[in-house]
Amino acid sequence: MPMALAPRLDSAAPTHTHLFPAANDATVSQAIRTPAAERFRHVLRAAMIPHHDAAEFLFDRFMHDPETHMDWFLSTQLAATWAFVEPMRALAGDDLGQAMLAVLNALEADCARRGLTPTPVAPYQGSALAAAYVLLGARLGATMMQRHMESLGMTALPAFFTKLDGVGDAWKTVVERLDAIDPTSAEAATLTTDATAAFKIFELAATAAPPQD
Ligand code: HEM
Repeated sequence: MPMALAPRLDSAAPTHTHLFPAANDATVSQAIRTPAAERFRHVLRAAMIPHHDAAEFLFDRFMHDPETHMDWFLSTQLAATWAFVEPMRALAGDDLGQAMLAVLNALEADCARRGLTPTPVAPYQGSALAAAYVLLGARLGATMMQRHMESLGMTALPAFFTKLDGVGDAWKTVVERLDAIDPTSAEAATLTTDATAAFKIFELAATAAPPQD
């Protein structure tokens, strides 16, 4: 084979790091090789199913009759979201912090408009990334709720249910950051514990405030 056509395997050969300049080499190759179902975000999602089911159960009355339970629902969401002010501060210089703040601002505006004064719950104390996962992941549920209410003929929905600036992109970033974590690492175990604690805050807020029945 003429030399000019031989494959270039020398150290100067380009590698995938040129295509993914922002990411760490080991992280990129791990993310590419790992099947989606085994990446940490999916492992975390599977671990959160019982907590998500519990949350859905607690907010079921709202899904059945959103008009009657709107004040209660918004109050519980704001009470829970206040508990995440610390991770929002920690992520303030980051798109994730800005997106979490957009959720908080929407809820504060909705509750102020309705004259609601929710009772705060104890602050969340875990990692900022787990907080962003739960707060921004819950926006997938908010979109579903928006569609559900529109299908019932409800219009002029509170800001909480509308598309909020930066949230979609921030959610993608959360997924990327989670997928860069080895699911068997200590960091993954901590994030799983912290995400559980974050779900519990929503459960606490839902059970602390009496619903309007
Ligand atoms: C009636 C209440 C709720 C409903 C109907 C609901 C519904 C949903 C739906 C449809 C998704 C998208 C699932 C998918 O893409 O396959 C989702 C995702 C999610 N929800 Fe909820 N949700 C509710 C309450 C909550 C609450 C209270 C929390 C916690 C704050 C929460 C946290 C999450 C998270 C973290 C995800 C993303 C999971 C992932 O894809 O990794 N949800 N929810």
